[in-house]
Amino acid sequence: MIISLAFLIVSVLFITGIKLLASPKTARRGNLIAGVGMLIALFAVLPLLHDSHGNAVSLGKWFLLITGILLGLIVGAAGAYKVKMTAMPQMVALFNGAGGGAAALVAAIEFAHVTRDSSLTFVVSMLCAAIIGAVSLSGSIIAYLKLEGHFDKPVTYPAQQAINCVLFLASVLLAVVMAAGSHSMVLMLLFLALALALGVLMVMPIGGADMPVVISLLNSFTGLAVAADGFAINNIAMIIAGTLVGSSGTILTLAMCQAMNRPVTNVLFSAFGKVDAAAASADVATGSVKPVQADEAALLLGMAARVVIVPGYGLAVAQAQHQVRQLSDELAKKGVEVSFAIHPVAGRMPGHMNVLLAEADVSYDQLIEMDEINPEMDRVDVCLVIGANDVVNPAAREDKSSPIYGMPIIEAEKAGTVIVMKRSMGKGFAGIENALFLRDNCRMLFGDAKASLQELVTLVKAG
Ligand code: TAP
Repeated sequence: MIISLAFLIVSVLFITGIKLLASPKTARRGNLIAGVGMLIALFAVLPLLHDSHGNAVSLGKWFLLITGILLGLIVGAAGAYKVKMTAMPQMVALFNGAGGGAAALVAAIEFAHVTRDSSLTFVVSMLCAAIIGAVSLSGSIIAYLKLEGHFDKPVTYPAQQAINCVLFLASVLLAVVMAAGSHSMVLMLLFLALALALGVLMVMPIGGADMPVVISLLNSFTGLAVAADGFAINNIAMIIAGTLVGSSGTILTLAMCQAMNRPVTNVLFSAFGKVDAAAASADVATGSVKPVQADEAALLLGMAARVVIVPGYGLAVAQAQHQVRQLSDELAKKGVEVSFAIHPVAGRMPGHMNVLLAEADVSYDQLIEMDEINPEMDRVDVCLVIGANDVVNPAAREDKSSPIYGMPIIEAEKAGTVIVMKRSMGKGFAGIENALFLRDNCRMLFGDAKASLQELVTLVKAG
C-alpha cells in the first residue's frame, strides 16, 4: 500500500516536472521536481527486492546495489558539473545510451526467469525492452562519437537500407522463436547482438549535425524500453516514466524536424551533410562583404532605439553569454530597447540558446520567439547576429535549390542595419553560403564573439 502510494507520488512528480520543463521560466524547478521523483522511485523499489526464489536479498547483493547507486550518483553529478555547454548533446547521448543499456540488461536478466507458465505479455514485453534498449545503447554511442567529431561524413554503402531491413527481420524472427517457447539464453544473447548491430548501422549513415534529432529519437526509444520493462516486472512507476520519456522524445523529435522543415525520414535516411558540397557550390551569392570596426558598431548600437540580438551556435562556442548580457544592460542604460530573437533550432540542441542566456541571467521577458519577432523586424534599427548563420540565411525563403529551403528563419535582413559577429566567412551547420552577409544593409564584425562583445561593452560604456 505504502509502495503504491509512493509510486503514485512519483508519477505526479514526473508529470509535473515534464510540464514545468515546457517553459524556460519553470524548467529548473521542473528538473528538480522530476529528480526528486526519481529519488523517491529509487527508494520505493528497495523493499520489493528479492532473489529469484523470493527470499530476502543477501548482504552481498545489498552491497553491490548500494555501490552501483553511489557510482551512478557520482558519475552523473561529476559529468553534469564538468560538461561544457557545447558538449551537452554528447552527455545526453551517453546518459541516454546508459538508460537504454540498463533497460536491455533488465530484460535479459528477467528472461532467465521465464518458464513454461510465463505469460506471453511478460515475454513479449521483455523482448521489446531488450531490442529497443540495445538499439538505443549502440545508436547513442555512435551518436556520441559523431558529435565528438570522430566521423567526418555520414558513412554510406550500397544496399544499406536493405541490410538494415534484413537485420531487423532476423531480430523479429528470433523474437518470434523465443516468444513461441524457446527460452534459450544463447538465443537471447544473439538477439541482443543483432539489436546492437542494428543500432550502429542505423546511426552510421546519418550526418553528424543531425545527431541532436537522432539522440532525441533514441531517447524516446529508451523511454519505450523502460516502459516495456515496467510491464514485464509489473512496475507502475517505470511504465509511467518510460511512457512520458517515450512520448515527449517523439514530440521533440518531430518538433525539431518541423523547425528545420525536414521530414523525420529525411533526417534518418538522407545522409544529410554528404551532399552539401554540391549544394554549396550551386549557391554562389553576389555582392560584397562590408566589414565594420567595433567602434562604428558600438556607435550604431548606441544610437538605435531598438536592437534585436539573434544568438546562434557561435555564441555557445565562444561562451559569450555573460558578455552579451552586459552589452544588453549597457544599451538599456542608454535607453535602447533590447530583445533576443530565439530560433527554435539555433545552436545544436533544443533550447540551447534559452539555456545559455538563462545561465547569464538574461530576463525571460527579453526573449522573443521567431514567429513573434519576424513581423516586427522592419521596425528594428539594428539586428545584431552573434554566431548565428543558417537560422538567418535568406536562402531558406528565397532559393528553392538550397538544402535549407523551407526552413523558417529569423528575418534579420529586414532590420535597418544588420551587424553579424563571426570569426570569418565560414559556413554554418548546413555548409552553405549565406547571402545575408553580402546584403547592402549588412556589416560584418569579424572576430571571436566573446572578444568582440567585450570590446563592444567597453565602447558602449565609454560612449
Ligand atoms: P550555424 O549555422 O551552425 O552557424 C554558427 C556560426 O557560428 C558559424 O558560421 C561560425 O562562423 C560561427 N562561430 C563559431 N564559433 C564562433 C566564435 N567563437 N565566435 C563567433 N562566431 C563563431 O548556427 P545557427 O545559426 O545557430 O544554426 C543552427 C544550425 O544547427 C541549424 O542549421 C539547425 O538546423 C542545426 N541543428 C540544430 C539543432 C538544434 S535542436 N538546435 C539540431 C540539429 C541541427 P565562423 O566559423 O566564421 O566563426
